[in-house]
Amino acid sequence: MDADVWDIDVFVDTTVGDVRDPYPEYHARRREAPVQMVAQFGTPTYVAFSYDDVDTVLSDSETFSSTVFEKSLVLVFGPTILAMDGHEHIAHRGLIASAFRLKALEDWKTTLIEPIVHQLLDRIAGRGEAELVREFNFRFPIQVIARMLGIPSEDSAMFVRRSMEMISIAVNIDRGLQASSALREYLAPFVEERRREPKEDLISVLATAEIDGHRLPDEHIYGFLRLLLPAGAETTYRLLGNLTFALLTNPDQLEELRADRSLMPEAIEETLRWEAPVQQTAREVMKDGITLGGVEIPKGHSISVSLGSANRDETKYDDPDRYDIHREGPAHLAFGGGAHYCLGAHLGRLETTVAMNAILDRLADLRLEPGDADPHVHGQAFRSPTSLPVRFKPE
Ligand code: HEM
Repeated sequence: MDADVWDIDVFVDTTVGDVRDPYPEYHARRREAPVQMVAQFGTPTYVAFSYDDVDTVLSDSETFSSTVFEKSLVLVFGPTILAMDGHEHIAHRGLIASAFRLKALEDWKTTLIEPIVHQLLDRIAGRGEAELVREFNFRFPIQVIARMLGIPSEDSAMFVRRSMEMISIAVNIDRGLQASSALREYLAPFVEERRREPKEDLISVLATAEIDGHRLPDEHIYGFLRLLLPAGAETTYRLLGNLTFALLTNPDQLEELRADRSLMPEAIEETLRWEAPVQQTAREVMKDGITLGGVEIPKGHSISVSLGSANRDETKYDDPDRYDIHREGPAHLAFGGGAHYCLGAHLGRLETTVAMNAILDRLADLRLEPGDADPHVHGQAFRSPTSLPVRFKPE
């Protein structure tokens, strides 16, 4: 793989809403009422804040439908499983689900994930200092998913830039739509080629897929491909940043993990609970007479669910604002729940495990060296650190 294509700075901050600490407000909302009408990004919307109500919405896809995304994400991605329900959703998700099972991922671990991690660390390990968000976290999962899709490495930087522009559509709508059609144009010849000559990649899986004996329409293929890159990259780099930030600001837990790597799954799950990279999702109410958290929500209305608030619900977690890798409590909701539970959860956990183990192995005596930077976790729709300026013992 050509490392030089990564010399250009493709970092685009797609965080929507520059909020430093939303948790006091979530806490106050949960105390007032678990479900309420709130102005979100300027529009009044029902929002569920408590763990139980968020869980109820995500678990019942007949009452709470994902077609809510037809008016937003579908306009940018095209047809996508995120916005489908019922049989259509199961059939489309099933096409690529096997590629994301743990067993299938074992191969990618050694052939792809570990080499990319070490190649990126090679560039900084001898220096003794780095800004991990831009130099490592952001560049890593995006390369993994681009390669899993089958994008040639020399096109990665362009592909990443376009994808980031597309998903930052809330910031700049024209640029987002332009990027979406540019990606379609770029991908079209690959889809044709893989249809004639399939390879071991996800474009080939989709190009040759059939549902009920019919080939997947091209627009559905592009919809999938447009979703997978941001879904796979945007989220994992934020998770890795949140984990690194949590450990660097809780040095006793960092040392415990360094000494006992079997604690990695606990550290990752607690990070997902403590700072959910994706803070919310939404559904549309499909039935009359639905009451949630004591509030009647009319059919046809949308409801946002605050994953970030649910994960800090004090009725489920003791002292919920504290980061504690030994915490007990119910599973967090950072990967959603029910039929749309994150398809890439295993991949995200695996990538984060490989990356954090390599960081701990190679960047000895790792510590935050903030200078004037004031690194902190921020964001309203997505959350992760602004920057992670660090020092360590040069290799
Ligand atoms: C590691 C951090 C990640 C987080 C926090 C995360 C979060 C989420 C959440 C909350 C959902 C549910 C959305 C909803 O129900 O409306 C979701 C769905 C999804 N995620 Fe992830 N994700 C992560 C990593 C990944 C990765 C690595 C991939 C791989 C490509 C991925 C692909 C997907 C897909 C395809 C869906 C849609 C599933 C469906 O609609 O059936 N995610 N993710």
